[in-house]
Amino acid sequence: MNNNALESIEKASIDELRSLQLQRMKQTLQHAYQNSPVYKKKFDDAGVHPEDLKSLDDLAKFPFTTKSDLRDNYPFNMFAVPQEKIVRVHASSGTTGQPTVVGYTQKDIDTWADMVARSLRAAGLTNKDIIQVSYGYGLFTGGLGAHYGVERLGATVIPMSGGQTDRQAQLIHDFKPTALMVTPSYCFNIIEALEEKFGTAKDCSIKTGVFGAEPWTNEMRREIEERMGIDALDIYGLSEVMGPGVAMECLESKDGPTIWEDHFYPEIINPDTGEVLADGELGELVFTTITKEGMPVIRYRTRDLTRLLPGTARTMRRMDKIMGRSDDMMIIRGVNVFPSQLEEQILTVPGLIPNYQIHICKKGHMDALHIRTEMQQNMPATMGPQLAQQLKTRIKTMVGISVSVEVLGAGSLPRSEGKAQRVFDLRQSA
Ligand code: DLL
Repeated sequence: MNNNALESIEKASIDELRSLQLQRMKQTLQHAYQNSPVYKKKFDDAGVHPEDLKSLDDLAKFPFTTKSDLRDNYPFNMFAVPQEKIVRVHASSGTTGQPTVVGYTQKDIDTWADMVARSLRAAGLTNKDIIQVSYGYGLFTGGLGAHYGVERLGATVIPMSGGQTDRQAQLIHDFKPTALMVTPSYCFNIIEALEEKFGTAKDCSIKTGVFGAEPWTNEMRREIEERMGIDALDIYGLSEVMGPGVAMECLESKDGPTIWEDHFYPEIINPDTGEVLADGELGELVFTTITKEGMPVIRYRTRDLTRLLPGTARTMRRMDKIMGRSDDMMIIRGVNVFPSQLEEQILTVPGLIPNYQIHICKKGHMDALHIRTEMQQNMPATMGPQLAQQLKTRIKTMVGISVSVEVLGAGSLPRSEGKAQRVFDLRQSA
């Protein structure tokens, strides 16, 4: 295969794709029912059997899988193959309670590498590229997931991992990678380090950024693209389903990640009722893996809020940029607010940078938001109150809530080295 050519399924007809999905879905339901006691019980309790799936729409009859199913079966009880067939485990840290553990067979690892390689091709990358992987290596799926995909593409991988920001910048300068894989918030810190060490980040060798693992706005995309002189593309994934490479934005359309539907079947549901919503409607993203052996998941509720959109650059459907996780939604005097809406506004105020914290506090009996952000380097400290007022007004007008804002000097807030923590709930400790 020509290194850049699309796989035939990426351009297949919708009918061909649906028929492949149906066949794989039937196999997956059988596999889960026969080999996972957890799924056997879940299906039996719900009164459904794999044979009940005659069309893809029948999936709606099957029960959901949630993070608590994974927690309750910690560490290895969700696996659907004997232990000796599992060649790797990953775990997601989980901010509360048990981490969730996932297991992969060799075939799963191969599929994962194929999907990340396909994602990199969608970003316009080839075996001629040098790709710095600055996602963390370890139990987190970001580093190793990206790494195996770069090798599968035949490109050169720089396995830098997260952290050591100064060294990240130095290696970019010395090794001249053409692409960078990292969380968008950490990319921003690498940009600052490049600017500090070398005067500018724009002249660096990188042409393409493959950014994900956390929500980020199109405003953030524009800021990074401008400061680094690159194309910044969105890669989506989650450990429970696989890791990075479940969906990837195509360079030619830059219109939201294409879901690699020949392996991951998406649905959007109403998060309150569980009802399946039509394409185009906003709701919670749910995935069924249709080729996974080690730990298939049936109707896994991601808690990510988005909508399904028709395919453009590929046959497969796209997802809109993730608006946020249902867990991250804040309700401030009756108004639903996501951190991404505040990020959008921060980036419309010239002089502010996309490093910020959102503190949820109590003011009397009401919840209130306090935003801490930073101004650009070389701005006089006296500008702080004026910028704060500007942001406050914008948020009031555009989002519809009153917040308090503090604009700090450059470098005052901690820097993320992976996924940024944006929201701090101070209500309990107050
Ligand atoms: O973050 C996998 C990954 C690594 C994806 C590197 C992309 C790049 P988890 O740690 O299990 O896995 O976290 C998954 O992160 O449910 C989303 O809430 C969020 N997330 C991941 N990618 C995006 C994205 C990895 N592109 C959770 N946009 C998911 C918005 C994202 N949110």
